[in-house]
Amino acid sequence: MANQDKNTYYITTPIYYPSDKLHIGHAYTTTVADAFARFNRLRGKDVFFLTGSDEHGQKIQRIAESKGVSPKEYVDGIVKTFQALWKRLNISYDDFIRTTDENHQELVQKIFKTLYDKGEIYKSSYKGLYCTPCEAFWLERQIEDGKCPDCGRPVEEVEEESYFFRLSNYGQKLLDYYKAHPTFIQPQSRLHEMEAFINSGLEDLCVSRTAVAWGIPVPFDSKHSIYVWFDAVVNYLSALGYLTGEDAKYRKYWPADVHLVGKEIIRFHTVIWPAMLLALDIPLPETVFGHGWLVIEGEKMSKSKGNVVDPNLLIDEFGADAIRYFLLREITFGSDGNFSRDALIRRINSDLANDLGNLLHRTSSMYEKYFPENVPSLGIEEEPEKELSKFAKEVVAKFEAKIDSIEPHVALEELWSLVRRCNKYLDSTAPWTLAKNKDYPRLARVLYTVGETLRIISVALAAIMPETSAKIREQLSLPAECKWEEAYIWNQWEEDKRILKADPLFPRIEVEDKEEPPKKKQNEEKVEAPVAKEEQVSFDDFLKVHLKVATVVFAEKVEGSNKLLRIEADLGLEKRQIVAGIGKAYTPEELVGKQIAVVTNLKPRKIMGLDSEAMILAAEDGKTLSVLNPEKPVKAGSSIG
Ligand code: MSP
Repeated sequence: MANQDKNTYYITTPIYYPSDKLHIGHAYTTTVADAFARFNRLRGKDVFFLTGSDEHGQKIQRIAESKGVSPKEYVDGIVKTFQALWKRLNISYDDFIRTTDENHQELVQKIFKTLYDKGEIYKSSYKGLYCTPCEAFWLERQIEDGKCPDCGRPVEEVEEESYFFRLSNYGQKLLDYYKAHPTFIQPQSRLHEMEAFINSGLEDLCVSRTAVAWGIPVPFDSKHSIYVWFDAVVNYLSALGYLTGEDAKYRKYWPADVHLVGKEIIRFHTVIWPAMLLALDIPLPETVFGHGWLVIEGEKMSKSKGNVVDPNLLIDEFGADAIRYFLLREITFGSDGNFSRDALIRRINSDLANDLGNLLHRTSSMYEKYFPENVPSLGIEEEPEKELSKFAKEVVAKFEAKIDSIEPHVALEELWSLVRRCNKYLDSTAPWTLAKNKDYPRLARVLYTVGETLRIISVALAAIMPETSAKIREQLSLPAECKWEEAYIWNQWEEDKRILKADPLFPRIEVEDKEEPPKKKQNEEKVEAPVAKEEQVSFDDFLKVHLKVATVVFAEKVEGSNKLLRIEADLGLEKRQIVAGIGKAYTPEELVGKQIAVVTNLKPRKIMGLDSEAMILAAEDGKTLSVLNPEKPVKAGSSIG
């Protein structure tokens, strides 16, 4: 991926819509991009790592309207949550671009005007279909059952005067470009997808809307605002100061080495964006990599399915590095991959606690036990050390190659073969026997060799788990900063050093024993329990239920029912509709303004034709029904637990 002759490296993530808080899928792309950015910095490259937010468009406009705030006010709040998440995940971006930034808006207008002046953009009128959640135009023939082919949600009819970009002129040029640049679209499967898409016929692209006010105005026709995707892709240039007096970054970093994107937006990045660049005579990025989706039990994450995973909660529980490792290791990069809590815990326990953490911990304990004063002179290197050092060099080279071929999961698999190999080395050299036999020089050599291997591992981990890498290095009395070339050196660690003791890197996570209870013996006497036994659930299962405090902002009786109320509940960053059978105990007026406790991640249900998107908690004793509410008012959306 990285051009080795070039000393710069420019990597981007998609700029995310601040329509809602980010979920683990967004964190996935950004974590992978961060690992690549860090790795290239380790290599001594001059890296520019860009992420940001895509703030215009109809979706944001509508959400802000529904909340009664201006779009800018709304996105300002959400963007803060993006930046806070990236901080917690140790995302080392060099710039965070917002499409509402002045210089970005100016560049979008300049580019629009340039293309108009060149005859690449013309005015006409558009009649077709639009998917607001994807902000994408569709042709009648691409639509089945009135649903968007990308996300499956209903499309809307649009008929308005519009500007068009002559995308239809670029089909053959793009196909030729793909052929001449085989690494432009990756992985290969996405290239075939895009070739097929182009071969089915490209139409000119509608690049302005009159019905959407929340956008950058067409500079010479202000009743039009520029189509949000035209606006968004330009971020990759505006962040570099392109066409400003200060374009040093553009000259230094462009073309981008990698645009990392999810598979659903590869079309915008490998058809529309390159066509715009060709029309502007700007070189194209080296690679657009379209990775797969994180799915939950095979299903795409979505609010309506109630299966959205909040990365902040995972970081609270497991720490940023464990999440980073899991995302990079577990999922075959490029394909869809399942996210599950069980798989995450398995990885933490086996790879992080057992293999890595234990190697470090037991070696540091042996230093303390066998060499409480100082470390004696090392014995000579013998065959096992030579074999381990050869193995380590091979692993380091493979790790590098696999990062370069954008296969981080394989790079980590390789690295862990070294962690395991080092554990085996420790077992087979049996330091405890050497200590018993008082063979101290040999014992010192063995422990040193583990320290040296851990030093090499810590260099590779600096790109993957920065906090863990720094902790290991601290135990080795090394500075957190390191360089990739140090991973190829053997016997660099100072010989009289010891591995200092510290808390285990990753404590094992206890999981409930899922074994079946023993079956009752046939002739066992039946004893009736005096009270019905409650079915027990594990703590893990309990945590799966999301309980939150909501504020009722609206309530009304459901027509045709004397028991059901339709409630609109504010959960801080979102509103949910709830249909609840509490109409005999509460009038709608009594409920408005009340805080209630709700379950937010139940699968939504349809009740009398209405979607119920959460469940209210209430107590009932046969006479009275009472909704639960917090004893003191708290912020809407606060977790209960
Ligand atoms: N704003 C556009 C991107 C413009 S880039 C010039 C957009 N934003 S988005 O907020 O919808 O983010 C989409 C991106 O988030 C995907 O391309 C992908 O990188 C990431 N993901 C969102 N859901 C995901 C999963 N379930 N799994 C993996 N990645 C996911 O599209």
